[in-house]
Amino acid sequence: MITILKGNIISADKINEFKIFKDSFLVAEDGKIVGIFEKLPQKYKDEKVEDYGNKLIFQAFSDMHLHGPQYAMLGTGLDLQLLDWLNTYTFPVEAQFKDQELARDVYQKLAKELVRNGTTRVCMFSSTHVDSTLILMEELDKAGISGYVGKVNMDRNGGKNYQETTEESLKETKRWLAKCNFKNIKPIITPRFTPACSDELLKQLGKIAIKSELPIQSHLSENKNEIEWVKKLCPDSKEYWETYKKHKLWTNKTLMAHCVHSTESELEAIKKAGVYVVHCPSSNQNVISGYAQVKEMLNKGVRVVLGSDIAGGDHISMFENIVDAIKVSKGNHYNSNYKIPFLTVEEAFYLATSASAPFFNERPGLAKNNVLNVIILDDSNLPFTDKLSIKERFKRAIYTRQKDAIVAVYNGVKIY
Ligand code: GUN
Ligand code: FE
Repeated sequence: MITILKGNIISADKINEFKIFKDSFLVAEDGKIVGIFEKLPQKYKDEKVEDYGNKLIFQAFSDMHLHGPQYAMLGTGLDLQLLDWLNTYTFPVEAQFKDQELARDVYQKLAKELVRNGTTRVCMFSSTHVDSTLILMEELDKAGISGYVGKVNMDRNGGKNYQETTEESLKETKRWLAKCNFKNIKPIITPRFTPACSDELLKQLGKIAIKSELPIQSHLSENKNEIEWVKKLCPDSKEYWETYKKHKLWTNKTLMAHCVHSTESELEAIKKAGVYVVHCPSSNQNVISGYAQVKEMLNKGVRVVLGSDIAGGDHISMFENIVDAIKVSKGNHYNSNYKIPFLTVEEAFYLATSASAPFFNERPGLAKNNVLNVIILDDSNLPFTDKLSIKERFKRAIYTRQKDAIVAVYNGVKIY
């Protein structure tokens, strides 16, 4: 099947540069990009062109860290810091996802909302419940989203009705993995974080990840009290990251959310292993975790991607999360007496799109052989559209965050 989209095409090939193709053709065969052409090659001359006129065509978003069940509590209970927030609000909400009917309803709404906002790829935490996790995977798959979902593992320090025994957690993980059979949604090993997982559980999860060649996601160095707690729980690990490394959960397909308080040596270990830091600026502000030093991480060569972390974060739209990332970095810029540079729009957009390409075995930007993974945006209702360059219009589209301006979304095929 051949898809040809015509419009103003933007591709984030490099971290600080948008490539702009005015009035051009984006051609895909069987859902994979063939190329971007100013003039349509002769061989496609009889094919149907979807002409989007003066609209903007750009890469769709990857949300590399969010919690599916927490969609139910979006925008509520954001008056506590991490550990109290988890115990007071989060664990009781997640515990309710034992109910498969509730799960179906919330996850259908979540999938629809992600697509409407141009998020086509996710790495998502579910709850501890296997059957509801399978419902989440099914709903995302049906909506045309790709990526990874993890059944959450936690065998200590959970809430009332929200903790597994080590044996249950492992047995249920195996039952879940045997049932994962979706087109575009795959499983990811998901120990919640060290305070919620015993050594034995982490050890066995590490073994499963290696044996089944699965990626891994967790949380790291998000909050200062959390870090102190890990020191007490794991006296044989000098730093937090070692609690994951010790059990072989520290690979180049590991995602670690937050890393707000990672030390120089923790960042060095992250870089060495090729672990991805998932920056979640909205969440870090809401539960008052602190300000991640993203510019420094990037300068050191650490791989950084972006996550909404709903419902620590308060919005699904990655436009909003991109702008949050820029604003947090400007806070760091100010606090460093204007020494540490802030993130540019180009950089922050790259973190929400191309930066995760290697995680999905792709190349940055709208590269040949990548999946046709794009958003079409109509900014004609804004003033001055005819006076601005394509690049200016695109940056404005990010800042204005108009969800309703998204007129179409493709992930291989048209999904919105
Ligand atoms: N650390 C452990 N669990 C969570 C969670 O659900 N959200 C956030 N932000 N941090 C966590
Ligand atoms: Fe999280």
